[in-house]
Amino acid sequence: TRVKAIMEATDDPLLGKTVAVKGWVRTKRDQKAFSFVEINDGSCMKGVQVVIPQDVPTYSAVERLTTGASVSVTGVVVESPGKGQRFEVKAQEVHVVGECPTEYPLQKKRHTLEFLRGIAHLRPRTNTIAAVARVRSALAQATHDFFREEGFLYLQSPIITASDCEGAGEMFRVTTLPSEVSKVPTLEDGSTDYSQDFFGKPAFLTVSGQLSGETHACALGDVYTFGPTFRAENSQTTRHLAEFWMIEPEMSFADLRDDMDNAEAFVKHVVSHAMEVCGSDLEFFNKFYDKELLQRLQRIKDKPFVRTEHERWLAETRYDTAVFVYDYPRDIKAFYMRDNEDGKTVAAMDLLVPGVGELIGGSQREERLEQLEAKMVEFNLSPEDYWWYNDLRRYGSVPHAGYGLGFERLVCYVTGVENIRDAIAFPRSPGSAEF
Ligand code: 4AD
Ligand code: MG
Repeated sequence: TRVKAIMEATDDPLLGKTVAVKGWVRTKRDQKAFSFVEINDGSCMKGVQVVIPQDVPTYSAVERLTTGASVSVTGVVVESPGKGQRFEVKAQEVHVVGECPTEYPLQKKRHTLEFLRGIAHLRPRTNTIAAVARVRSALAQATHDFFREEGFLYLQSPIITASDCEGAGEMFRVTTLPSEVSKVPTLEDGSTDYSQDFFGKPAFLTVSGQLSGETHACALGDVYTFGPTFRAENSQTTRHLAEFWMIEPEMSFADLRDDMDNAEAFVKHVVSHAMEVCGSDLEFFNKFYDKELLQRLQRIKDKPFVRTEHERWLAETRYDTAVFVYDYPRDIKAFYMRDNEDGKTVAAMDLLVPGVGELIGGSQREERLEQLEAKMVEFNLSPEDYWWYNDLRRYGSVPHAGYGLGFERLVCYVTGVENIRDAIAFPRSPGSAEF
C-alpha cells in the first residue's frame, strides 16, 4: 500500500484493513509501551505514522529503525488519536530492510538547496526535491494529455544533428574518438578537422527539435516533440542549463495568432492539472518558498494572457500575469521566422511570466522559398546546408507555426523554486556533470 492511499483517504473502507507499507524512516519516538515511527515512501509529502506496540514479536527491530533506514511494516489501519493525520498504522510485523548509520547526511533538519545539489543522488529523499519530482512528473503527463486531446502527433526528434536551428553557435560537438576536451582539432590551413566527428561528418547535440518538427507538420498536421535539448552557452544563471527539456509543438495551416492561442491553452491546462493532482505539494511550496504562489497560479488559470506588440511592451510597465510579446525586430531573431509586411519585424512571440521571465519562444515560420533563401544568405547561412528544410517550401508549402517551452522553467514557475538546477533531477551546467 502506498502511503498516499492511507494519508489522503477520505472514506472509511481503509479502516480496519491490513496494509503493508514499505519506505524509509523519517523520525522515531520511543515511549513506554509504544514506538512511533514516521515512514515516508515518496508517494506524498507526509509520511504515515506507524505505532509499534512493545509486544509485537518483531519489536526488537525498532532499535535499528534510525533515520534513513528502509523498512517494511504490516499492520492495521486505525483512527489516529494524534493531531495532523486521520489514520495511522498499528504494526503487527516490522522488518528492517536496510540499516542506515548515523553519518547519513539527511538527518531530520532543514538543508539548503545548495547543499543538496552536492548530493544529487540522495536529495530526492527530501521533502522539497521529492515534491519537485512529483510536480514535474504531473506536468509531463499533463503535456502528453493536452496534445493528445488536441489531436497532435507525438514525434521523437533526433538528438544528434548537423543543423544549428537557432543559428546561435551554441552547440556541443559530437566526436567518435576520445579527444582532448575543449580542443577543437584544426587542419594545416586552419579549418576545423571534422575527421573525428560523427563518422567523418560534423555532428552536434540538438539545440531544438523544431526543424524536424516542421518536416512532420508539413506531412501529418499538428505534431509535438518533448525531449532533451542542449546549449553550450557558458552562462551561470539560475535560468539556464546546458541540458534542458523542451516541448515543441508545430502546427500546419497556422499563423502566429493560432500559435499564441495554443500556447495559452497549453499553459492553462498544465497549471490546472498540477493544481488538481499536486495540491498538497503546491501548498508546501506556497508555505515555504513563495507565499504568492497559489494566488499567481490561480490567476494564470483564470485570466486571459496579455498580448502586446514588442514596441509597445518596451514602453509599458510590469504585469502580474503572463504576457505574450510579439512582432519582434527581425534582426535580433532567428532566420526561420516569417517577415512581417513592414519589413522591420517578424511574426515571433515570447511568453513572459513573472519570476521566471521567458517561458516560451515561438513564431510563424517563413514558408516562402524565395524570402527564406534570401534571409539565410543575409544571416550568413548557406541555403545548400538547409536543402531539405527548403524542400518543405518547394513542395506544397503551407503557412505553419510553432513554439518551444522550456520544461524546467515551467517547473520553476509552478513550484516557485528559484534555481533551475532544482527543477531537474541531474542538472547539467558549467562545472557539473557528476551523478
Ligand atoms: O527561445 P528558444 O531558443 O526557441 C527555440 O529554440 C525555438 N526553436 C523553439 C520553437 O519555436 N520550436 O527556446 C525556447 C525556450 C525558451 O523560451 C526557454 O524557456 C527555454 O526554451 N530555454 C532554456 N531553458 C533552460 N536552459 C537554457 N539554456 C534554455 N534556453 C532556452
Ligand atoms: Mg528565446
